[in-house]
Amino acid sequence: MSPADHVYTEADVREFFDQTLQTYLAFWDSTGVLHTGYFTGDADDDYWAAAGRASDVLIADASIDRSSYVLDAGCGCGNFLVDVAKRVGCRGEGLDLSEERINFARAKLDRENQRQELRIGFRHGSATRMPYRAATFSHVISQDALCLVPDKPRSHAEMYRVLRPGGLLAFSDFLQPKKQISQRAREHVYDRVRWNGGYSFVGYQAALVEAGFEIILARNLESHIRQTYRVLGKVARDRAVTAPDAAARDWMLAFSESCREIQTAIDHGEFGWGMFVARKPETPTR
Ligand SMILES: C[S@@+](CC[C@H](N)C(=O)[O-])C[C@H]1O[C@@H](n2cnc3c(N)ncnc32)[C@H](O)[C@@H]1O
Repeated sequence: MSPADHVYTEADVREFFDQTLQTYLAFWDSTGVLHTGYFTGDADDDYWAAAGRASDVLIADASIDRSSYVLDAGCGCGNFLVDVAKRVGCRGEGLDLSEERINFARAKLDRENQRQELRIGFRHGSATRMPYRAATFSHVISQDALCLVPDKPRSHAEMYRVLRPGGLLAFSDFLQPKKQISQRAREHVYDRVRWNGGYSFVGYQAALVEAGFEIILARNLESHIRQTYRVLGKVARDRAVTAPDAAARDWMLAFSESCREIQTAIDHGEFGWGMFVARKPETPTR
């Protein structure tokens, strides 16, 4: 499904993330983490530690503490919020387009709450129509999710609306460094996750400013996404050898092949990754 002019809708994205939950749980991470890792260097091949480090960088950049009220936009299986609420005791809400993933997050929260009552909750919904009042949150965070929204100005406006004046938006996201994308990159990087395309590193900051935000911090982290897919491609190849059935083996080998193509796309400037922190002004301009 890759005619060059195909535009994925929210319904396409939702279907993809509902349908692939079990596949990703079985292969990528059994707890449901699904984002790019932040590696210590080229020799570091521990994806799971790197994925945790990516969350730690956001928590530190955004100065999240017990007094924070955090929205995770595109929270997936809820790991970020559960983890940060356990660590610092903040309040929080997780919002995701995939009902399957929200159900998974709620079940995880139920288990956690038997040990320690966390001040967080999860809701099914879209970043383009947030079920929250204006000026609710001190922080909006997001990991590798906002790129998937077809109408990005709309989700930017929603995040701006639900943040309190002075509140912080801190997120990681996929980047589209150059406008023209080859057919191979489209197939292996973009269509693979129903992604229409995104911003360059500079273009992202301009879009946030256009939405009313002030840019606090921007990190261009292309080497970390290359390392993520290098490491996961190897994991997939190794696991394919002991896959339980032919379908699982074929899926892992196809994923591993895509990982090679993804690294090529990064080298060609067709794919990237960044982290950004932006502030809603104390005196909002809109
Ligand atoms: C790559 S996963 C990341 C999940 C999670 N942030 C993590 O780090 O594990 C992207 C997530 O974005 C969600 N998503 C995509 N479009 C969305 C939208 N318009 N509103 C809310 N969530 C969305 C998907 O359902 C999916 O769970």
